[in-house]
Amino acid sequence: MRMTVIGTGYLGATHAACMAELGHEVLGVDVDSAKIDSLKDGVVPFYEPGLPEVLTRNLEAGRLDFTTDYGKVAEFANVHFLGVGTPQERGSYAADLTYVYAVIEDLVPLLEGDHIIFGKSTVPVGTADELQKRADELSKPGTTVEIAWNPEFLREGYAVQDTITPDRIVLGVRRGETKAEEVAREVYAQSIADGAPFLVMDRVTSELVKVSANAFLATKISFINAVSEICEIAGGDVTKLADAIGYDDRIGRKFLGAGLGFGGGCLPKDIRAFMARAGELGADQALTFLREVDAINMRRRDRVVQLTRELCGGNLLGHRVTVLGAAFKPNSDDVRDSPALSVAGSLSLAGADVSVYDPKAMDNARKVFPTLGYVDSIEEALEGADVVVLATEWQQFRDLDPQAAGELVNKKIIIDGRNVLDVDKWQGAGWDIHALGRTL
Ligand code: UGA
Repeated sequence: MRMTVIGTGYLGATHAACMAELGHEVLGVDVDSAKIDSLKDGVVPFYEPGLPEVLTRNLEAGRLDFTTDYGKVAEFANVHFLGVGTPQERGSYAADLTYVYAVIEDLVPLLEGDHIIFGKSTVPVGTADELQKRADELSKPGTTVEIAWNPEFLREGYAVQDTITPDRIVLGVRRGETKAEEVAREVYAQSIADGAPFLVMDRVTSELVKVSANAFLATKISFINAVSEICEIAGGDVTKLADAIGYDDRIGRKFLGAGLGFGGGCLPKDIRAFMARAGELGADQALTFLREVDAINMRRRDRVVQLTRELCGGNLLGHRVTVLGAAFKPNSDDVRDSPALSVAGSLSLAGADVSVYDPKAMDNARKVFPTLGYVDSIEEALEGADVVVLATEWQQFRDLDPQAAGELVNKKIIIDGRNVLDVDKWQGAGWDIHALGRTL
């Protein structure tokens, strides 16, 4: 099947390459020519395990190409996926829909014949209906443009796997006449044959599915982090508690990882946009609890800064602090709203001499926070440290040898911000180890 993918950021580039991998002929488009040049050369402009291989394989097979020309998009196919960003608007909680509307404004007047645009971006409820109205206004006489919503649930770090073998496919279609379901069934034929549940609903519900899923995940993390605060004061151990409640399969252990909390380009901005939209709909009370979810999450960052200060004798000035990790989670070079970088930044602003190391996110971190001390290896980062903070749980950090690390630092003090280190091993090597939600 021929299709285009509009927007080649994280979501779009992955979707384009994976649709080609499934055998489709795909043209990706973006207004950013640097991104397009890079993708055409087989270079993924961000770190995503497995994606470079899928990209080059499909470029070479001739099933995948990229362009900045909307004219080519209009000619290439009648099926389009919209995957542009919906970041948090400046000065508000709402999602910025500029890029989404720009696609409709730029593309629709060029279309001829019958087209379907499948929206994949995360948008406030009601957006698809509005886009349909705009598309109806902009389309040429005799041309039809149907807007359907097909939210994306991929996780960074597992983007290829999540796209090729999704755990569900959600499709929101308009009421009345629609061709979107038939077309989507063809697009996702292989995933459906492999057993992925295919759920068809109205557009409003499909938009809500996406934000509800992320809001639920965020709530689950903040729930355990709230309990973690109690554990810290009462002297409990949140990791043992999470194991114990996680065995109840109504609760489940996943996303009960207590620690520095959630960040990234999705969960934080999605819960805020959800609250903002609820307010617009006159239902702000319904989602007031998400404010608390957000606040609990942010408090964990403060807690790590405060704990570091305590461990430095009450004053960070002049103390050498090593922050291991800058990405918002392992297997990603994404530093958007990264808890690790937030902690590193706060420590630095409070006067600590901070050195940061991350296996993949150094370049992105430097762009966002240029004043931190970045070093090229774990060893260099640990050299002379008064306190070490493990902020992103890269495997490399989990595997650190406490004995060897102990020889590099000034003081053997470590804060496990992700609850992943083997406490006995670190204590056995003479370290003073601290962790969120545990009294060690
Ligand atoms: C999230 C969702 O998991 C995806 O399903 C969704 O498609 C995506 O947002 C999106 O909307 O595009 P992602 O942002 O890649 O995916 O990251 P997650 O794996 O969900 O992790 C989010 C954050 O929560 C990370 O900072 C992670 O460190 C943190 N986290 C996760 C915890 O603090 N504890 C946990 O137990 C799990």
